Amino acid sequence: MHKESIFLVGPMGVGKSTVGRFLSEKLHYDFVDSDHEIEAKTGATIPMIFDIEGEEGFRVREANVIDELTQRTETVLATGGGAVLDPENRRHLRSRGFVVYLKSSVDALVQRTKHDRNRPLLQTDNPEQVLTDLMEKRDPLYMEVADLVIETEQIPVHRVVKQIVEKL
Ligand code: S3P
Repeated sequence: MHKESIFLVGPMGVGKSTVGRFLSEKLHYDFVDSDHEIEAKTGATIPMIFDIEGEEGFRVREANVIDELTQRTETVLATGGGAVLDPENRRHLRSRGFVVYLKSSVDALVQRTKHDRNRPLLQTDNPEQVLTDLMEKRDPLYMEVADLVIETEQIPVHRVVKQIVEKL
């Protein structure tokens, strides 16, 4: 049985936390979510951190948490959608575990995030454009770290989990 931790990367709304929870149950691993960890450490919500410290301040906190959480064993980690922007984060993800890129179309991401108030980058008049731009910039970065890429669109969560487990 492998003991390597599993890191889920991919855009906002793709289902990293949902898949991560099921996957961790299946493997009897711990589940952690980098955003939740940042909130627990600061006692502030992600939108509050963006308000007070800007995206830059948030990214510093995120890098610290990614460094810490990627050192855990037998853990499924759901990373924030922008975690791959930082080269040091990418290096930790690649070298410390098995990285799964969960991917889907921008349309599906828009549908899944449209009533969401917890994602500051999407509080705009045109979230579709924002997600399109983010994906253009970040897809190569997700690809750079990924050991496995899974298209999640129209695939039930348990099948996504099965596909991951089969590749471990
Ligand atoms: C972000 C994604 C969010 C959160 C923050 C910034 C991003 O995480 O870290 O709002 O830059 O894509 P999720 O991918 O879990 O929504």
